[in-house]
Amino acid sequence: MIRAAITALGGYVPDFVMTNQELEKLVDTNDEWITSRTGIKERRILKEPGKATSDMVVIAINQLLKKRGIGADEIDLIVCGTITGDLIFPSTANIICDKIGAKNAWGFDLSAACSGFIYSLATGTQFIETGRYKKVIVVGVDKMSAIIDYQDRATCIIFGDGGGAVLLEPTTEDVGIVDFILKSDGSGRNYLHQKAGGSLNPPSHETVNQKMHYVYQEGQTVFKHAVVNMAEVSAQIMEKNNLKSEDITWLVSHQANKRICDATAKRMGVSDDKVMMNIERYGNTTAGTIPLLLWDYEKKLKKGDNLIISAFGGGFTWGSIYLKWAYDGDKVKA
Ligand code: UT7
Repeated sequence: MIRAAITALGGYVPDFVMTNQELEKLVDTNDEWITSRTGIKERRILKEPGKATSDMVVIAINQLLKKRGIGADEIDLIVCGTITGDLIFPSTANIICDKIGAKNAWGFDLSAACSGFIYSLATGTQFIETGRYKKVIVVGVDKMSAIIDYQDRATCIIFGDGGGAVLLEPTTEDVGIVDFILKSDGSGRNYLHQKAGGSLNPPSHETVNQKMHYVYQEGQTVFKHAVVNMAEVSAQIMEKNNLKSEDITWLVSHQANKRICDATAKRMGVSDDKVMMNIERYGNTTAGTIPLLLWDYEKKLKKGDNLIISAFGGGFTWGSIYLKWAYDGDKVKA
């Protein structure tokens, strides 16, 4: 049986650090509130004019290619999870192929907000498992600062920019993506969305004046759904694969709010030291959080480690992936 294994990865966050103290100057908030309610201390913002989502991905993919020792022309497909593509069309994956020189690849974007990376990973896996392709790149990235209102304290304190990419290759060893459970409930769109810019409300002076091109979130409602559903689907995938708490090496949980990660870990019976966390430094980068966690923790990962990757986000979209890590991270030469 062929499985898809992650064989290399790369990540990128912009240099500019926006601290909670900086935000105190923009909106009525404070470091104590943000830290205790979310776990976030600072986030990165892509400030350079003319730089977009694809520019962050290109850096991450070039890192990945170097680590794996392959050229961009060997890539078959790029699946890019994002809601902040460079343009409405063509897809950001299409632009990335051009920028990295992936002459033999095609690609597409996948819109699932904070679940963008897990949806994309499950999708990319299919192209490997069927034997169709040998090298698929899966991206999770967002330039949230492009759609955030820095006068809205309900959203601007949470989000940041960044993301990463993983390479999927076939394996017949007992590693790789083992299982996934993905869910969606479109009625959740009322609580987290961007009102204008699409075909429902095409951009106009009026939509801009009314700030409809920014993220709208009813935080408490999203929080309640996230806590319940992410914990539930994580427990479900464990049960489906006969995994006990002690079998889990790492919980790789979308970084929306530390309290949501804690609730998921508790439901799974997983202790804090097994929960990957970097929300304090990057905030919520939407589709970017999971590849950024893998990037930060790569050196600690060992071949055979059991990872549960879970996310919840706009849509609503959510789910869990069970994978066995395929290589010893401490042997990777950056
Ligand atoms: O990643 C995609 C999915 N998104 C999520 O998972 C986000 C889920 N939601 C959350 O993480 C939380 O709901 C937030 C962090 C967005 C908000 O935290 P909360 O504990 O739900 O706060 P709240 O909205 O219930 O507000 C509590 C209080 C209110 O004041 P009163 O009415 O109790 O006097 C707010 O006006 O905190 C106030 N508040 C703030 N105060 C200081 C709201 N935002 C802020 C702020 N600074 N930035």
